[in-house]
Amino acid sequence: MNLANIRAQFGYLKNNPQEIYFDSSATFLKPLIVSRAEQFYYEHINANPHSFDYQNAYQSNQILSQTRKQVQTFINARSEQEVVFTSGASFGLNQIAFGLRDYLNPGDEIFVSDLEHSSNLVPWLVLAQEKQLVIKEIPLTETFAIDIDQLSKMITPKTKVVSFAVMSNTIGISNDVKKITTAIKQVNVQTLVCVDGAQSVGHQKTDVQAWGVDFFTFSAHKMYGPFGVGVLYGNQNVLETLKPLVFGGGMSESVRVEPLKYQLTPLPVRLEAGTPNIAGIYAFSKALDFINEIRIETIHNHELKLKKYAQTKIKAANLNSELVFYNLENDAPMLLFNLKGVNPQDIASFLAHDYQISVRSGAMCARLTAELGFKISVRVSFGIYNTEKEIDKLVEGLKNIEHFLDHIL
Ligand code: ALA
Repeated sequence: MNLANIRAQFGYLKNNPQEIYFDSSATFLKPLIVSRAEQFYYEHINANPHSFDYQNAYQSNQILSQTRKQVQTFINARSEQEVVFTSGASFGLNQIAFGLRDYLNPGDEIFVSDLEHSSNLVPWLVLAQEKQLVIKEIPLTETFAIDIDQLSKMITPKTKVVSFAVMSNTIGISNDVKKITTAIKQVNVQTLVCVDGAQSVGHQKTDVQAWGVDFFTFSAHKMYGPFGVGVLYGNQNVLETLKPLVFGGGMSESVRVEPLKYQLTPLPVRLEAGTPNIAGIYAFSKALDFINEIRIETIHNHELKLKKYAQTKIKAANLNSELVFYNLENDAPMLLFNLKGVNPQDIASFLAHDYQISVRSGAMCARLTAELGFKISVRVSFGIYNTEKEIDKLVEGLKNIEHFLDHIL
């Protein structure tokens, strides 16, 4: 892997040469083939894929089906019918939750963890209130991984859904999805396993068949792709049972008012009402090309190396005695920390102002993490373009953290 060559593929890095971008968990930078593809689509193709009436409309349909096929291969789904295009992981998770509305009854149990992002929490809470469902907490180990033994003891015949992230957007620990799914299904084969892949899909291999999950959702912008595009994967049998969240063009085959009758199209189009973000989907196909060319394993190893480098440097500078690190020891492509008594936003502003290092601070939309002891914090997150030199600069900044108030006062 030639890191200089990879970095040269990112227009953002060229246009912001002084900045160190450490906010990939919020959104990855996009390589030029992605940003240019979106522009190319509008300037050369532009058509709506809802018809085949002229050459560009035909091409637009080709892009849609080829990208669907690419996604199928990337996540190892059984067929393209299991790949639904959405606007992002949040839409996918809402579609799953509210698509199951008719299947769920009062007293049914839904399991979520304290680490979940709001997108994998709030839809379930809203649905629970509406349908009198029981929300249960997925037990976690001391290192914040899912405690599989404890969880399987808690699954009952009433457990309808267990929904969790492969990798949380704060602690970042990577759960063993296959083991978790197997343990759940051993107790109750009917329990649906719903997995939020937003934070893992751009960092590590996804294999929905090997994992045995029922649902898997993610966003393109968290894997070097454009904003406004996402994927909902569903095992065909359960996807068939999801009621669409949105109705409209493209997904209704026949409609009558008197007598009232409508027929919806087969999967996956049934869950894709309206015009898709086809320019974004075209750009997404280029993001998949980008990852495939480098290989997801290479990306994973590079980030692992960066994390190990950060661990060594932080310990060598004794920063771990000054700052509270919550995930220094795990393999996650991110660091989460606090300086006791200081608002994390002040640390983020200091790093941005004095070192041009972009990080995220706050609750990261994971509102239950207060229960785990880190309500708000500073998050540094990596992508394929980050370097050890950038980590050196971060460590230098953190060494001078006591000056965090200087630029404010
Ligand atoms: N979910 C995104 C994050 O973790 C926005 O920053």
